[in-house]
Amino acid sequence: MQITDKVSLKVEGAIGYVVVDNPPVNALGQAVREGIAGGIRAADADAAVQAVVIVAKGRTFPAGADITEFGKPPMPPSLPEVCQVVEDCSKPVIAALHGTALGGGLEIALSAHYRIADAAAKIGLPEINLGLLPGASGTQRMPRITRAAPALDMMLSGKPVGVVKAAEMGVIDEISTGDLTANATAYATRLLAESAARRPTSERREGFDDMAAYDAVIAARRAALAKSAKGQLSPFKIVDCVEAAAKIPFADGMVMERAAFMECLTSDQSKGMIHAFFAERQTAKIPEAATAKPRAMDKLAVIGGGTMGAGIAVAVLDAGLPVVMIERDQESLDRGRANVEKVYARNLAKGRIDATQMAAVLERFSGSTDYASLADVDLVIEAVFEEMEVKKGVFAQLDAAMKPGAILATNTSYLNIDELAATISRPQDVVGLHFFSPANIMKLLEIVVPAQVSDDVVVTGFALAKLLRKIPVRAGVCDGFIGNRLLAVYRRAADYMMEDGASPYEIDAALRDFGYPMGPYQVSDLAGGDIGFATRKRKAPIRDPNERYVEIADRICERGWFGQKTARGYYLYENGARVGTEDPEVLAIIDDERRRVGINATSFSVEEIQNRYLAAMVNEGCNVLAEGIALRPLDIDVTLLYGYGFPRWRGGPMKWADMVGLDVILARIETYAKEDAHFWQAAPLLKQLVAEGRNFDDLNKGK
Ligand code: 3HC
Ligand code: NAI
Repeated sequence: MQITDKVSLKVEGAIGYVVVDNPPVNALGQAVREGIAGGIRAADADAAVQAVVIVAKGRTFPAGADITEFGKPPMPPSLPEVCQVVEDCSKPVIAALHGTALGGGLEIALSAHYRIADAAAKIGLPEINLGLLPGASGTQRMPRITRAAPALDMMLSGKPVGVVKAAEMGVIDEISTGDLTANATAYATRLLAESAARRPTSERREGFDDMAAYDAVIAARRAALAKSAKGQLSPFKIVDCVEAAAKIPFADGMVMERAAFMECLTSDQSKGMIHAFFAERQTAKIPEAATAKPRAMDKLAVIGGGTMGAGIAVAVLDAGLPVVMIERDQESLDRGRANVEKVYARNLAKGRIDATQMAAVLERFSGSTDYASLADVDLVIEAVFEEMEVKKGVFAQLDAAMKPGAILATNTSYLNIDELAATISRPQDVVGLHFFSPANIMKLLEIVVPAQVSDDVVVTGFALAKLLRKIPVRAGVCDGFIGNRLLAVYRRAADYMMEDGASPYEIDAALRDFGYPMGPYQVSDLAGGDIGFATRKRKAPIRDPNERYVEIADRICERGWFGQKTARGYYLYENGARVGTEDPEVLAIIDDERRRVGINATSFSVEEIQNRYLAAMVNEGCNVLAEGIALRPLDIDVTLLYGYGFPRWRGGPMKWADMVGLDVILARIETYAKEDAHFWQAAPLLKQLVAEGRNFDDLNKGK
């Protein structure tokens, strides 16, 4: 019997099967909610049915509420109501889970009386990743079964767990190997034969067996969040609701959970995170994908075994592919190999892999100083020194050594890839693959599309990102592509504030307060000031003489203070400390520089620092869009979120700007322009959007 177009009820013998069919992830949209509630009620009313199994078609049990419905007028029945219908069924209800039973999907399962799960299934409550909390009884039902600590682990981390762990938690009663529906049928039949009673989760109290321990967990998590989740809403609400689960009647707990869920749902934080969720899936949607198919990628190579070459090699090995490393001489190759081995040695020491696994991975790694070893390679990623002439030399050798149709990628941070591609016989095969350091960890991969590249090469870059589990963003060729180009501008805004009166410590603190894990000067100390120093010296002759140039960084670098690696930079790192302390000598250097250029220091509030830094970022984002360097505002958001530490709960700079209001951002820029009209030039696109009453979201939607 079809209940709605997404849910049917099938009765076979004594069992009624409520079958959900809403590809791709069986999200709990209105027709699914109505269908599950209707299916349960119909099974309950059918005298032939003695037990009900809820099961889903396709790749997964429902993976949660339908996120696209958030923000729209509510359509009954609500998910908490559906959960209650499931629990209130007068016959035993068994949820049969496979794939990823997440969020609202798991809450439906928790409302059933028994749960069986496929051995490969995962369960989780990832709502926190959307700035939400489990809002369909998860905060109330989960701790009743499994105590405060495991319930909070799941809700506060948002990470799914496998079935073995889920069974240990008491959430999964049976593990199924083989045909899930057949095993669920057998399980239901057994429960009936044993006359097993319905087991309403709302009435269970196993999780509250030790209230002193429960209270201690709540207090500890609250204290930890005060440090780790400062400024965020949903983590604290989760703890409040889980605490309440043990203290107040179930019905009251549900009212509290609903109110907290709605408060989160209407907050800018959840709007930012929901934007991030969809944006990171949108970035793979590029024009080239409409017609082109990826080329083969069976064997990869890296040129250079330094920081990036070695990191990229590890990323490729971790994805299960073979990789060849080319270095300029044996000594450098040995160093490159050691850089790769070091990563796995650390994994071994930490117990993440065993010696056999390490050997198996390294088996796929080979090194050579001879470009002839590249003859059978499908894709090579060059990561040698950031110098055009060196890279041109390498590309000439690649041109000679690689087979026809092989892809030649460069990891350059800033250099003109069009110019590089034009020096070889096959510019159509040259693409930018800009990884971030450490390349085996950082999620972002900028895929830089030069003028002459063919579409299937671009599409292969995106396929590689998927293979390496990276988030790809399509970028055009310019100095710094999307991320580093914006960085150069907002870092200048920070340097100007520093010279005008804010200390680097105030600036860092203001940006941590905004949600960044570290401020820009902490990042500079971590990355090392020497590379930027060398670049500034090299670019000095071509610097625009009208541009305001702050020399404080040079004064610091001239002293050999390059940051953590020299135990001194903007901060002092005494006795190997990784967290720096303020350095009065740095403040004195800054004062001297202010005197030298004739600046009377003024003070900047936390908000003022944040506003200027962000305005510079958003304004340059507009220029990047207008030039077609980024396809959509969301591509900029994803770049900053995954490569530059922008707080996810703010959605990215362009989403943030939409929420503040583009007219407000423009007005700020126009005010700053009164002090420095050269730096603060409002982007034409920003002015145009404000004049037309449009925003970045409109551009994302193609409006
Ligand atoms: N609602 C609407 N659409 C969803 C969705 C959801 N919950 N989950 C996934 N989708 C969409 C994706 O946007 C994507 O659409 P596209 O093809 O148009 O880009 C499509 O489904 C496939 O998703 P993925 O590309 O992410 O597929 P994967 O196989 O890589 O991953 C997944 C599957 C692990 C289920 C992943 O999609 C995921 O993590 N989804 C979100 C899960 C989640 O956050 N659930 C909680 C929702 S909030 C909630 O339940 C509130 C409740 O407590 C009241
Ligand atoms: P690195 O200095 O650590 O490594 C460069 C390696 O290239 C050295 O091991 C060197 O021996 C080797 N090399 C030089 N010339 C060679 C040649 N002709 N043939 C073979 N090998 C050669 O440099 P790093 O940091 O790894 O940077 C490499 C590239 O990646 C640069 O283009 C850089 O701009 C880019 N990049 C760097 C990032 C970083 O954070 N370090 C981030 C993203 C990109």
